[in-house]
Amino acid sequence: MSTAESTMVPSGRLVLDDELDTSSREAADAAYRKLLQRLSHQSVVKHFDAYADVDWDAPEMRIDPDDPRWELDGDDPLGATAWYRAQPQPVRAAIGLHLFATFMKIGLQFESVLKRGLLEYAFRLPNGAPEFRYVYHEVIEEAQHSLMFQEFVNRSSFDVKGLATWQKVASRMVVRLGRTFPELFFLFVLGGEDPIDHVQRQMLKKCYDVHPLLRRVSQIHVTEEARHLSFARLYLRRNVPRLGRVKKTMLRIRTPLILGQMSQMMMRPSPQIVRRFGIPADVLREAYDANPKHRAQTTEAVAKVRRLCQELDVVTPGTLKLWQAFHLWPQEGAGAV
Ligand SMILES: [Fe+2]
Ligand SMILES: [Fe+2]
Repeated sequence: MSTAESTMVPSGRLVLDDELDTSSREAADAAYRKLLQRLSHQSVVKHFDAYADVDWDAPEMRIDPDDPRWELDGDDPLGATAWYRAQPQPVRAAIGLHLFATFMKIGLQFESVLKRGLLEYAFRLPNGAPEFRYVYHEVIEEAQHSLMFQEFVNRSSFDVKGLATWQKVASRMVVRLGRTFPELFFLFVLGGEDPIDHVQRQMLKKCYDVHPLLRRVSQIHVTEEARHLSFARLYLRRNVPRLGRVKKTMLRIRTPLILGQMSQMMMRPSPQIVRRFGIPADVLREAYDANPKHRAQTTEAVAKVRRLCQELDVVTPGTLKLWQAFHLWPQEGAGAV
């Protein structure tokens, strides 16, 4: 395993530092700064306010829990089950709305961890660090997202719980990673942001009958997330190859564990929803655990971060089994990785 340092050249290609002469290294640093400046500038010219840019009180934005537009379609693992289709219409709509509201609640709890971790990361940056300004833009944008998500949850009429207590306790360790192990922290960031972004993009693409409030919140989120995802990838491409042996090994083992947890939280109903609507265990098995389509959807949701991990040598033959165990790896014959 190589521990040699590397640098991203302007083309985005990674090369070992000892291959670079001083002028190439300066060019790579200049390109990195320029990319961060461009992202920061975008945050100034294209940003949203949770209340000025969403017309919460417009009549068409009102949330009616019986609205058929909340119902899950046949592409959804639970929506495709005979049990779901046999429920009365108001129950089908309420399950769909509760799922969307839980998605937003977990999303804003994830963003809380993200903002605190970013502030930990920025706290130790030296004067003049190009990351400082960008990271503060991202914290501000995430705060606006969390305002939108919480407002949606409040208007859903459900007292959505979100993360379990043990997950809230574990999240404090993730916040600390922003200071102690930023490379693992930014992989955690991608583990949350990539599946959220994937689910929202899929929804905006395929459903023409999305509720206008859900559509507006999702459009705003997807637009700003593109910058956040770019920064996390840029940071990882620049810094993971520079890690020493011990940290690289930790990254290789902990990344599939984190991604497995995150994708499951985002892709299946919370225990609160299961209890409230009395979803039987065999229906959950049919929809999620024993459903190849759901596995493929989970694998697809993490495809971008998985490919980045392959590129950065974070996946090894020794840790591949972990990726497979959490359904993060395409099954044989399921298409290209
Ligand atoms: Fe966000
Ligand atoms: Fe984000």
